[in-house]
Amino acid sequence: MNILIAGSAGFLGAHLTKHYLMQGDCVYGVDHLGSGSKKNVNLFLKNGDYHFIEHDVSKPLPADLPHIDIILHFASRASPPDYQKHPFDTMDANYKGTYNLLELALAHNARFVYASTSEIYGNPPKTIAINSHTYTLIPTPEYFWGNVNSFGPRSCYDESKRVGEALVFEYIRKGVDARIVRIFNTYGPLMRPDDGRVVTNFIKQALNDEPLTIFGDGTQGRSYCFADDLIDGIAKVASFKIENVRDKLLAYKSQFMEKRPSKYLFDLDNDIKLERVFNVGNPCEHYSVLELADLILELTNSNSSKNFFGLPKDDPQDRIPDITKISQVLGYSPKITLKQGLEKTISYFKEIL
Ligand SMILES: NC(=O)c1ccc[n+]([C@@H]2O[C@H](COP(=O)([O-])OP(=O)(O)OC[C@H]3O[C@@H](n4cnc5c(N)ncnc54)[C@H](O)[C@@H]3O)[C@@H](O)[C@H]2O)c1
Repeated sequence: MNILIAGSAGFLGAHLTKHYLMQGDCVYGVDHLGSGSKKNVNLFLKNGDYHFIEHDVSKPLPADLPHIDIILHFASRASPPDYQKHPFDTMDANYKGTYNLLELALAHNARFVYASTSEIYGNPPKTIAINSHTYTLIPTPEYFWGNVNSFGPRSCYDESKRVGEALVFEYIRKGVDARIVRIFNTYGPLMRPDDGRVVTNFIKQALNDEPLTIFGDGTQGRSYCFADDLIDGIAKVASFKIENVRDKLLAYKSQFMEKRPSKYLFDLDNDIKLERVFNVGNPCEHYSVLELADLILELTNSNSSKNFFGLPKDDPQDRIPDITKISQVLGYSPKITLKQGLEKTISYFKEIL
C-alpha cells in the first residue's frame, strides 16, 4: 500500500514511518522540518520504498503524487514551548493542513487518520455530579466534551486540534473513511533532545548532571506511553474495517446508555459512522512529575538536584486516558512499563547526546 505520513520527520511520524516500511508498504513522508529532525529522515532514505517530500501541509499537496491508500496526519508541533513559540504555524498545520490532507483523501479515496490529543479535553474535573450521580472524568473517556480555555497560552494547540477534529467529522459526512486518535503523553527514542517535553528535559538534564526543572510542586500526574505501544494502537485504529467492529462498538456504547446523565457530557446518539474517535495511551503507567524525576535520576545514576519553578498557566493537574473503548473494540493493550521505556530512551539519548 502507499501510505502518506505528514510529519514523518517528527518523533511519532518517524516511528510510524518505520512501522509501515517494516510492513513492506511504500511511505511518502511529508514534512516542513519545522520541529522534525533531518536525522530521522536520513534513517529511511536508504530504503527505496521511502520518498521524502519537504513541504508545508498548510499549502495544497503536490499534484503529482501517486495513488495514496492511507493518509496519517501527524504534522503539528506538539511540545508546549515549541507550539507557543510558533502559534500560527501550529494553527495552520491543524486547520489548513487538515483541510488540505482531507481534500487529498477525498480525491484519492484514501483512509485518513488524524493525530488529535488529550489536550482537547483541557483540564477535566476529577468527577462531575449530575442528577445526584457522580461521574468520573479522570481517567478521561472519549465522550467528555472538554473544559478548554480558548484564549490561554495553550489555546493555539488545544483549539486548533479541536477544529481539526471538527473538519474530520465534516469530511466523514462527505464520505471520507476517517478516524481520530486522541494521543496521551508519549515518549521514546527519536525524540529531539531539545524538544522541551518533560521526559526529554529530565533525561538530558540528568545525563549532564544539571538540575532537573520541575514546574509547580511536582505532584501533577501524567500517564506515560512508550512509542512502540502507541504505534500499535494507531496501527489498529488505521486498519480496522467499520463493518468488522460494528457489534463491538455498539456493545461499548450500550454500557453507557443507562447511566447517561445529559446531552452535555454524553453524545451517544451519533450514527455508528461517526464512532471514529479513540483515546490512545497507557493509563497503567501513571506517575507524578516528581516520581518521574526520581526514576530518571535512578536509571541515569545522576547526582542532579531539582529546581522548582511556578506552574505554567492552564497546565492540567492530571491526565489519564480511559482506554476502555480501544481495548474493547480493537483489542489494544499497552505493555511497556515506564521503567522499561525509560531504559530504552536513555540508551538512545546516550548515543546521540
Ligand atoms: N508525542 C506526544 O506525546 C503527542 C501527544 C498528543 C498528540 N500528539 C500529536 O502527534 C503528532 C506528532 O507529534 P510529535 O510528538 O511527533 O511532534 P514532533 O514535533 O516531533 O513532530 C511533528 C512533525 O510535524 C512537522 N510539521 C509541523 N507542522 C508542519 C507543517 N505545517 N507541514 C509539514 N510538516 C509539519 C514537524 O516538522 C515535525 O517533523 C502531532 O499532531 C501532535 O499533536 C503527540
